[in-house]
Amino acid sequence: MQPLIKTTLRTKRVAQQQDSELKQCLSATDLTLLGIGAIIGTGIFVLTGHAAAHQAGPAVTLSFIFAGLACAFAALCYAELAATVGGCGSAYGYSYAAFGEIIAWIVGWDLILEYGMSVAAVANGWAGYFSNALSAMGHPLPDMLTHAPAKGGMVNLPAALIILALMLMLIVGVKASARLNAGMVFIKVLTITVFIALASGNMDISHWSPFMPYGWFDTMPDGKTVGVLAGASVVFFAYIGFDAVSTAVEEARNPQRDVPRGIIYSLIFCTVIYIVVAALLTSLLPYHELGVDSPVAYAMQKIGFNWAAALISTGVIAGLTTVMLVLYYGLTRIIYAMSRDGLLPHSLNHLNKQTQSPVRVITITGVLMAVMAGFIPLDELAELVNIGTLAAFVLVCGGVMLLRHRAPQLPRPFVVPYGSLIPTLGLLSCAALMIFLPAIAWMRFGVWLILGLVVYFIYSIRHSKLNQE
Ligand code: ALA
Repeated sequence: MQPLIKTTLRTKRVAQQQDSELKQCLSATDLTLLGIGAIIGTGIFVLTGHAAAHQAGPAVTLSFIFAGLACAFAALCYAELAATVGGCGSAYGYSYAAFGEIIAWIVGWDLILEYGMSVAAVANGWAGYFSNALSAMGHPLPDMLTHAPAKGGMVNLPAALIILALMLMLIVGVKASARLNAGMVFIKVLTITVFIALASGNMDISHWSPFMPYGWFDTMPDGKTVGVLAGASVVFFAYIGFDAVSTAVEEARNPQRDVPRGIIYSLIFCTVIYIVVAALLTSLLPYHELGVDSPVAYAMQKIGFNWAAALISTGVIAGLTTVMLVLYYGLTRIIYAMSRDGLLPHSLNHLNKQTQSPVRVITITGVLMAVMAGFIPLDELAELVNIGTLAAFVLVCGGVMLLRHRAPQLPRPFVVPYGSLIPTLGLLSCAALMIFLPAIAWMRFGVWLILGLVVYFIYSIRHSKLNQE
């Protein structure tokens, strides 16, 4: 069979999945809010300060611009594929259509790592803020119950419990989850607005000098990378999540129109906010003072707004909740799609009749992530998330070009303008951000991919529906 025809058949097959049994109830606004829910979180509230203090100085604003540009290129490619391939969303579905099964498997496996690890890692950050808030209210939890065994405790109970609570929310159904998400997004955007309003009146631009104390890029003797570009590969984490909108394609009312909109609108909104917040934050205090746990709240406290610091902590708790909710949601939809294709056990491809949600996948992944979050300190592993996501973005950008070449006849309601320029820039910029990550992240990523290939050749290849057909 000609590669072109083969690809088209695959694409058709993917499009047929539009007849999915998942409930199609999400509007463009729901999708945009899901995107904002997944995007704004630890990245802006925590990593901005760390990257400013240790990697980029006040030029962390440039790091946000570079990372934002790479994401904008990738988001446009996501939008074209969402509009073209339609039926089965996420980088997994797009890679299936563009590259075929094995690459799709690698991307899906990679996304499981990205989303699963993000949820468990963000739950750890959430638990820290939650425990601090309880202490501030005079009800501290015992240390044994707020730290994993490796950190001197017994279990990180709040981290495990928040994941189980979100599990129940997702079981109730996607529309209810989208409503909870919208409420929480409102709270976090409100707190950011308060920060912007107060910080704008208290800027001291002498703090922007020196602007680039670490230069563009350098490697320290201890292997740590510094500079604006290294900062960009760290703050890239702040943008992760817009891709989760693509996993909602089967539950969107008008996927080919609304998913591209959800992706692009949420990314534009968050990019503008990030650049403004980074510029303001670095103008409030000397950059080297920002490497604390909650730099945004800390800066408010330092300039005399204690009430705003408390409000921002509420925003962080709400923000991290929605990040977990949407990424957890994305994880379940990817596993659901992979099991429907036969690459993961068929039993995972089961929908609850009442809620029309994949309850089995939600429960299994929820319990696993709760155990991980409760017993393993996950801070370092979070680096894996960036490298995994960047790899998926590289393939999505490449996928746009390949699919245009292999299946030019497919209707494309949205096309990335200027030919191959933007997909090429997306591919190169995401690959560059991968290069600026530390070697240890590459090693861990390699191990995860090898494990994935072992699973594929032992299980998935034999159960794949495509191969059986
Ligand atoms: N973008 C998300 C965050 O910053 C993952 O927490």
